[in-house]
Amino acid sequence: MNGELSRRRFLVLGGLGVAATTSWAMGRGAPAGAADLAEPPVLRSHRGRLEVTLVAAPGVRLAGRDTQALGYNGRSPGPTLRVRPGDELALRLTNNLSTPTNLHTHGLRVSPQGNADNPFVMVDPGASFDYRIQIPKDHPVGTFWYHPHHHGTTADQIFGGLAGALVVAAEPDLSVTRERVLVITDTTLTKDGHVADPGGMGRMMGRRGDLVLVNGEHRPTLAATTGTTQRWRIVNACASRILRLHLTGPGLHQIALDGIYLHRPQSAGVVLLSPGNRADFLVSPEAPGRFELRTEPRPPEEDNGSGPTNAPAPKPIRLATLAVTGSRRRAPSLPTALPAAPAITGPVHGNRKITFEMTMGGMGLGGLLPDGMGMGDGGMAWTIDGRSFDPKRDDQKVRAGDVEEWTIANDSPMDHPFHLHVWGFQVVADSSNNPVSGTAQDVVMVPANGWVRVRVAFTGFTGRTLYHCHVADHSDAGMMATVNVS
Ligand code: C2O
Ligand code: CU
Repeated sequence: MNGELSRRRFLVLGGLGVAATTSWAMGRGAPAGAADLAEPPVLRSHRGRLEVTLVAAPGVRLAGRDTQALGYNGRSPGPTLRVRPGDELALRLTNNLSTPTNLHTHGLRVSPQGNADNPFVMVDPGASFDYRIQIPKDHPVGTFWYHPHHHGTTADQIFGGLAGALVVAAEPDLSVTRERVLVITDTTLTKDGHVADPGGMGRMMGRRGDLVLVNGEHRPTLAATTGTTQRWRIVNACASRILRLHLTGPGLHQIALDGIYLHRPQSAGVVLLSPGNRADFLVSPEAPGRFELRTEPRPPEEDNGSGPTNAPAPKPIRLATLAVTGSRRRAPSLPTALPAAPAITGPVHGNRKITFEMTMGGMGLGGLLPDGMGMGDGGMAWTIDGRSFDPKRDDQKVRAGDVEEWTIANDSPMDHPFHLHVWGFQVVADSSNNPVSGTAQDVVMVPANGWVRVRVAFTGFTGRTLYHCHVADHSDAGMMATVNVS
């Protein structure tokens, strides 16, 4: 079946799970016979519209086994949704899980209201919901993703396997031989193929699965040929695991963060990807060999003695093997400039301070609590500004159109990645004096006992939505709040 034909079939059959396992997207450019990682099937928009049904249900193949893990349309990660700026995404979500769910289009600059990217929607077991998401004509092209966002079940459902990539792209905007979508998830499976309960400590600190998977496979092989360039769109879709990506051999050249192009490719040694972050890379091997895509342990100089989520893993974890064939051959040179979006400039209308805290009995204990003390005790909560999430409360009211600077402080002994829906932000300064990227992103790590200052342009959309820690266990435990822009 040729690609065009199967794309059409996806458009017609997009909602029917089984059709979505055809793998037209895999293997292009791979040497014949070599093992190569399959991609999630791609559902593309057609004439300005992507109409798709996603059925969330248990029962997927994961790490080469039949499991009771969760998936969309029978697989984890779910299909890759591919739309263009200006398209409408008409998505029916059907909940065949035993707990309520919903869907967030993470990173999309779209309305948070009504049946658009509204995180307050709740879809009960057995029910369906029709999302209609209008993607603006001037929406940035890039790598985004979708995942459940129902307060209290988010970590379980993401860890269970519910996540998928969402690519906004017009024409191919860089000339590469091969484009890959690599969705990284982690989970722990029991002997009988169920998703393991993380236990009280895992829920409190942020669970990490025994298996770190790429497109649902454990340690897959990625095939490549010398002298060619691949673009990798990597999504950290782990519920709570922080990744520090490193590729041995040819290395990674980062071209985008959170779907937004950097100004120029950056040679990247180790790339920190918090849960929710995405990064796009160019990979240009010139010599044959087998190389490793890894997540590296936290470097000792960044170790602040915090708890299990951040504790330095003793060794790197191999995520995938890059198998390069062919004779030594120069790769095409990297682009010198990228179509980066302009920086957020103009007068700042307001400043706010937002504080991530660990709270016990209503009292912030940030920085005071000795290592490990009180963890898992009753009454301990992850909070923002001393308060637990309340969907009915407006925590911040912002005037539509304003540009604001928010200083996100972390008064707790663990790292917390800050995420803001809909508008995204640009980092302007942080407590470690890191150079600022000058481009927008939507998740930024706020290190333990540190701070990050971000600039947000509350333009384009009004409505209520969320900001939170993207360690899903922490947001489920209360580290989430609302912003009302009107
Ligand atoms: Cu990726 Cu509020 O979510
Ligand atoms: Cu957190």
